[in-house]
Amino acid sequence: MAQTKILPSDDVLYTDEFASAVIEGLGATQKNIPCQYLYDAAGSDLFEDLTYLEEYYPTRTEIALLEKHAGDIAEMTDDGALLVEFGSGSSRKTNILLEEMKNIAAYIPIDISDAALEDAEGRLNTQFPKLKVIPIHTDFNQDVDLPEDYSSAYRLGFFPGSTLGNFERDKARQFLEHSRGILGPKSGFIIGVDLQKDPSVLVPAYDDAKGVTAKFNLNVLNRINSDLDGTFDLDKFRHRAIYNEQEARVEMHIESLEDQEVKVLGQSVNFAQGETIHTENSHKYTVASFEKLAAAAGWSVVQTWIDDGQLFSVHYLRPSQSV
Ligand code: TRP
Repeated sequence: MAQTKILPSDDVLYTDEFASAVIEGLGATQKNIPCQYLYDAAGSDLFEDLTYLEEYYPTRTEIALLEKHAGDIAEMTDDGALLVEFGSGSSRKTNILLEEMKNIAAYIPIDISDAALEDAEGRLNTQFPKLKVIPIHTDFNQDVDLPEDYSSAYRLGFFPGSTLGNFERDKARQFLEHSRGILGPKSGFIIGVDLQKDPSVLVPAYDDAKGVTAKFNLNVLNRINSDLDGTFDLDKFRHRAIYNEQEARVEMHIESLEDQEVKVLGQSVNFAQGETIHTENSHKYTVASFEKLAAAAGWSVVQTWIDDGQLFSVHYLRPSQSV
């Protein structure tokens, strides 16, 4: 398994990249910070919390859908399959599938965080002592080599949490193509996708009354302060969630409450009152728009499950015959 430890520790990995991404992003006309930098240790904890907030319907709705249909998913999947999760994090939703799929060959969580992989592996070893867990520590957008001993196994991909929605639409298509390459021709792919709906439901999901999402978003300024000699005063900024109708996405921004100058790595960054730093997007799909995206990436949707409130969708994809 030595080949899986190809990255240095999580902190070392990003300091330089983080510096150049922040300097570049804060110099852009629409200031921005790439969303992966929201997830340091503090950010990941806040993220875990916010997914269980009252206003944040996706997590509980997706879990309910997976619980209801895990049996169907198991039936549609060959015995001896590999379960491959992209960006597995805590692997909590995986439990629901594992409970129904006792005869998979192995579970392969792929994550950029070594700590998350270790925690998940420890928990799964206790909860499912017979399950073989083969963690792969890498960025799932890079090449991923699945273990060769299972080369003829059916591969079932798993990508819950509407994480696909955090990609720009073209990047989402690229990810779907990339994952089809990793999973190969004898595969299926379970993807959770949040549905388009009224902004009065969407916006509070990303701007909760308790302010956890705000704290999560503003935390990236703390990270800039501590890692990049930043001078952000968090009281002079606020979190904003905006629904962009045209792009069908919720956008997260950090808004400057006044005209001000901030220093980052000795460089000055000026903010006008009301100016924002764009930090993340959460694209929303219809069943039809998702099917189209999947088709453009060589996948056919063979089954879609939706809750009664039509809030969230879980899809079972298979490689399209024509590719
Ligand atoms: N992918 C999920 C979504 O877009 C979870 C998520 C990612 C999220 N970043 C977030 C939720 C920021 C709230 C705020 O909904």
